[in-house]
Amino acid sequence: MRILLGVSAGIAAYKSALLLRLLTEAGHDVRVVPTRASLEFVGRATWEALSGNPVTTGVFDDVPAVEHVRLGTSADLVVVAPATADLLARAAAGRADDLLTAALLTARCPVLMAPAMHTGMWEHPATRANVATLRGRGVVVLDPDSGRLTGQDTGPGRLPEPAVIAAAALALVASPLPADLAGRHVVVSAGGTREPVDPVRFLGNRSTGTQGIALAKAATERGARVTLVAANVSLPTPHGVEVVAVETTSELREAVRSAGATADVVVMAAAVADFRPLTTAEHKMKKVAGEPAPSIALTTNPDILAELAAERLHPGQVVVGFAAETGDGEGSVLDHGRAKARRKGADLLVVNAVGQGRGFGGVDNDVTIVDEHGQDVAVAAGSKDVVAHAVWDAIVPLLKPLDA
Ligand code: CTP
Repeated sequence: MRILLGVSAGIAAYKSALLLRLLTEAGHDVRVVPTRASLEFVGRATWEALSGNPVTTGVFDDVPAVEHVRLGTSADLVVVAPATADLLARAAAGRADDLLTAALLTARCPVLMAPAMHTGMWEHPATRANVATLRGRGVVVLDPDSGRLTGQDTGPGRLPEPAVIAAAALALVASPLPADLAGRHVVVSAGGTREPVDPVRFLGNRSTGTQGIALAKAATERGARVTLVAANVSLPTPHGVEVVAVETTSELREAVRSAGATADVVVMAAAVADFRPLTTAEHKMKKVAGEPAPSIALTTNPDILAELAAERLHPGQVVVGFAAETGDGEGSVLDHGRAKARRKGADLLVVNAVGQGRGFGGVDNDVTIVDEHGQDVAVAAGSKDVVAHAVWDAIVPLLKPLDA
């Protein structure tokens, strides 16, 4: 595979020498295109020696070869690491003022950018807007790692490890998955909310967040920008996913609604507490010998899914819920699921059986996806990754066209 490795002028450019080694050792033909300023950090000789290919930086360096067109059109994959704030700005604006940005305009293959910069630059609204523009066009922009920066500061802005960048980049081309969520923003809630009773106790549930994490990972693999609203999730979250950690139902509601304002899809995979204590005790509740146990008065939480379905925070937004059912004397798992689908008004409801070893944690799932009328749309059985892809398969046909 022909890979174009763009390097812009950040101190982390030296890490791209390792990235280059990983890519060439995996058998790929890599052309390194540094920006001129990046040669202050790592010189042309290093790139030429490690890639075995000539290195040019300007559109006038080899005019007869029309390099700025050939490099982009002949690449199967473009990786830019590090991508500085300036490079992101020039790419977002469609500038072509050096060989790298010109090649980015002619490339029609998957493009991955791994930003590295000071936290202040990464968090600046101008950079946020440039990243959003690039992601909106289908460019995969990784989130930088957090940690010690070049100076004394710490925070988000470090270049992700070369092995992580290489894996994320190669997954874009190796993956047989459709890129049918490219240019989309999706919000997935995962885990289980906790409602504090007193400073040490809470009402909670058994949800681990595994299915929500699988949904977030699957959406990223299919090209989406993903916000994962994680309620008390202790499992590792997928790389490239924006994670908003929450505890209570009220925090989850706020986070989902805020991210949902720009989302094409919201999937409520979190197990949301239906009730919360009417009041939270300021101090730990003590047992008093000889006195009866205290009772805890509960109040009902808002139904976030039903609200989202009724309001549609973003035009054309697809709203999807999960229904964890056990079945009882009143009806089967599916009877309850179909009734819930009609009640909630979500476009799709993923119905699964829980209890007796089914549903929670790392076990397989067996689901039926129904529409808002309770009609079957699809069934899926297998690992939570398999189920996650089946859910996205059912969502994709409901999405409004990207340019509508
Ligand atoms: N849900 C929600 N807000 C709540 C309760 C649930 O958004 N307060 C969402 C869940 O995230 C899930 C769907 O609604 O996507 C169904 O959750 P479930 O707990 O199965 O349903 P309930 O509404 O609690 O209904 P019931 O108590 O009748 O089972």
